Amino acid sequence: MSVIQVQGLRSLKGEIKIQGSKNAVLPIMAAAVLHKGTTVIHNVPRIQDVFCMLGILERIGCIYSLDGQEEYIKSMRSSIILSGPLLGRLGDAVTSFPGGCSIGQRPIDLHLAAFRALGAVIEEKDEKLSASAKTLVGADIYFPFPSVGATENALMAAVYAKGITVIHGAAKEPEITSLCEFLNNMGAIIHGAGTSRLAVTGVTGLHDSEFIVAGDRIVAGTYLTAVMAAEGNVLLEGICPGHLTAALSLAERMGAELKLFKNQLEISMRGRPDCVDVVTEPYPGFPTDLQSQVMAVMASGSGWGRVEETIFEGRFGAANELKKLGADIVIEGKRAIVHGLYPLKGNCVTAPDLRGGAALVVAGLAGEGVTEISECHHIERGYENICRDLSSLGAAIRGKE
Ligand code: EPZ
Repeated sequence: MSVIQVQGLRSLKGEIKIQGSKNAVLPIMAAAVLHKGTTVIHNVPRIQDVFCMLGILERIGCIYSLDGQEEYIKSMRSSIILSGPLLGRLGDAVTSFPGGCSIGQRPIDLHLAAFRALGAVIEEKDEKLSASAKTLVGADIYFPFPSVGATENALMAAVYAKGITVIHGAAKEPEITSLCEFLNNMGAIIHGAGTSRLAVTGVTGLHDSEFIVAGDRIVAGTYLTAVMAAEGNVLLEGICPGHLTAALSLAERMGAELKLFKNQLEISMRGRPDCVDVVTEPYPGFPTDLQSQVMAVMASGSGWGRVEETIFEGRFGAANELKKLGADIVIEGKRAIVHGLYPLKGNCVTAPDLRGGAALVVAGLAGEGVTEISECHHIERGYENICRDLSSLGAAIRGKE
């Protein structure tokens, strides 16, 4: 699918089951490399990033089966998240630099600092990055910023390190907690999940295990914004509302009515959402991965709001595309000033990145006429089938080659 077409101004109604979490399953798949045996992972989303990861795992010697997988594994993307488990298991990891992407530079200095703290030697040669260590020894690791990926890599590299590793200033995202639970379920010894201080006691081996991946809180948050933009009443199943507290309180400030259950979230929206001020922050603050989608809601809302992006320096890509739909947005550095106008006007736009693409779908739901979104491969990296999901709720949306 390369293009999505949305015929806007139809409200949404019904219920959908949310797919498994991309940002939980990718580090879990990487962590499975730590164990020379069988790991069974349930609720794996059928998304391009998972297929890419399977391709990389196969390349390094893993054998896998994925029920009903007939997808052809497309472009291989180097995944820095494998360097931690490879270093932990083999004492040696060579990966290519992840390089920048459309939302920012994506440096890995914190990952490398963690590996060095555990005793690894890092070398950069001809565009490759190698980390090696005869033995890894437990150490104190201090993160000046709670990097999600660096916390994950440090955890995985520390599992077999001799003695105790304490990660200070660790990220606290639910995906970190699920990685700690997954590793402990394999026989690792990690304490402090969900806090900024994680203690890992080195072990000498892990065992076969099974694990169920939680629902994707960012996909759920995306569909929350879709209901806010299109109006209506929708029940999202298979997620933990407690993983989205900041996003849910923002939605209520904007006028959404929410009902929270253990594994479900009901959203009702009547009338246009109020534009408000929002700042992205590390968890438990408002997630950067929902920033573009909320901007799309405000663009079709009422009043004025300010969106401040503090995590990624290049994450306003959707704003320029939203302006092609008639949105009134002014970018000032890390801040976007949004003046809500409703309805937006359907037009041809281009997905700038994964969540920016999803934001354009959300905006299309509030646009008069047809919005056509190209470069939709970005969206397929993280959403199993956004057209299937939203059309099951009554949206007039379809994908075409
Ligand atoms: C993870 O990326 C997620 N990706 C991102 O989701 C998410 O936006 C991000 O965490 C923040 O929550 C996956 O889990 C696969 P970071 P990650 O390291 O680990 C700087 C999506 O849409 N930094 O917490 O790369 C970095 O430049 C994706 O699903 C360093 O300076 O995020 C950025 O400004 C997008 N040095 C900030 O930290 C480092 O060594 C946050 O990065 C590492 C990061």
